[in-house]
Amino acid sequence: MPVLVHRMLVAVCIVPLLGGAVAGQKFVPNYDESKVPAYDLPDPLQMSDGSRVDTAEKWTRLRRPELLRLFEDHVYGRAPGRPEELSFALRGCDDALEGIAVRKEIRIHVAHGGRSLPIDLLLYLPKSRTKPAPVFLGLNFGGNHSVCDDPGITLSTAWMRDRKGAGVVDHRATEESRGTSAGRWQVPKLLARGYGLATVYYGDIDPDYDDGFQNGVHPLFYAAGQTKPAADEWGSIGAWAWGLSRAMDYLVTDADVDAKRVAVMGHSRLGKTALWAGAQDERFALVISNNSGCGGAALSRREFGETVGRINTSFPHWFCGHFKRYNDRVNDLPVDQHMLIALVAPRPVYVASAEKDLWADPRGEFLAAKGADPVYRLLAADGLAADEMPGLEQPVTSRIGYHIRKGEHAVTEYDWQRYMDFADRHLGR
Ligand code: GCU
Repeated sequence: MPVLVHRMLVAVCIVPLLGGAVAGQKFVPNYDESKVPAYDLPDPLQMSDGSRVDTAEKWTRLRRPELLRLFEDHVYGRAPGRPEELSFALRGCDDALEGIAVRKEIRIHVAHGGRSLPIDLLLYLPKSRTKPAPVFLGLNFGGNHSVCDDPGITLSTAWMRDRKGAGVVDHRATEESRGTSAGRWQVPKLLARGYGLATVYYGDIDPDYDDGFQNGVHPLFYAAGQTKPAADEWGSIGAWAWGLSRAMDYLVTDADVDAKRVAVMGHSRLGKTALWAGAQDERFALVISNNSGCGGAALSRREFGETVGRINTSFPHWFCGHFKRYNDRVNDLPVDQHMLIALVAPRPVYVASAEKDLWADPRGEFLAAKGADPVYRLLAADGLAADEMPGLEQPVTSRIGYHIRKGEHAVTEYDWQRYMDFADRHLGR
């Protein structure tokens, strides 16, 4: 039934530019619901051979692995597992934030194939905790020192995108960049509610520009003579998701962390990343996508706002080579993003949209959450408790959670309050 619900037999008026890959033509995003093309969503509960997935056992044994392979082959690329060498060095452990927190800095040392890479993890824990703390883990855009106004955080020396007003000069962080993303992380509020925050600068894993995969983690895993990932191997999102799993490798070793209650969260490109990490790595107990849009929570087939053709043109390094096959034929993709959300099942998952973030297609994010519902019903007897998209700031808090808040593409205190409520409810306090 839900598949039928998603058959959007709306008036078809396909604007030729929607795919965005027509050489020399300017991309014009569609923001008109009546121009969303008709589409059929692939059924998450139907195997590629046509057989039905009607038991939880068949989902877990056959369909879940099949879907993971499809996302690897066609969207994000295959990533390696744990590297040959993985070790953790505690570089600092101090009281912080006027005594409400313990701040740890951990260097994750990754080595493989004769090359190595340092990844720096920042961990805040509530000072007042009486037992291991549940933790939100997320990659950050601006360096660990940007997530909180805390002079004790080591300033990142890594390459970063120049961001206006963020204290980045010639692609390097300056002292002015401390705390510039504090509103996006709400560390004091998290600590007050009993949660810790673990975060890593995403550029430590792979700098976010298209250099043909010469820097970052990819070269550690090249076979002899290999100079770039094959068309079915990981792009940058695959690498960032891999990095989240390495951060988790650390968290499970830290006795101050309740490793059974780690929620992975990400915004925008890092929301796409959080979903892909959560889909693959079942140690993440809860998964949160904040405004992740195309290639994240939004249905690709709607071609509303950013499209597959457009994202592969603007950010050719994010996905695997094979994803580009679908630039102008998105309906041939064997998956759509509701299936990515379904891969989190039966663990709780939260999808958040913003009213003015049309580029990320809020309705497409809601419909993808809805499209994952049959899998949740099969496994957990609870899914998304909403048939229609809810109104602004009316959160749905069932095992698939969803809200659309007022405002722009961002992470706000409103979003965090909902994530903490959701984690309280589904992970327990
Ligand atoms: C661009 C991109 C989006 C992405 C966003 C972000 O807008 O087109 O796909 O989510 O950047 O990561 O901020």
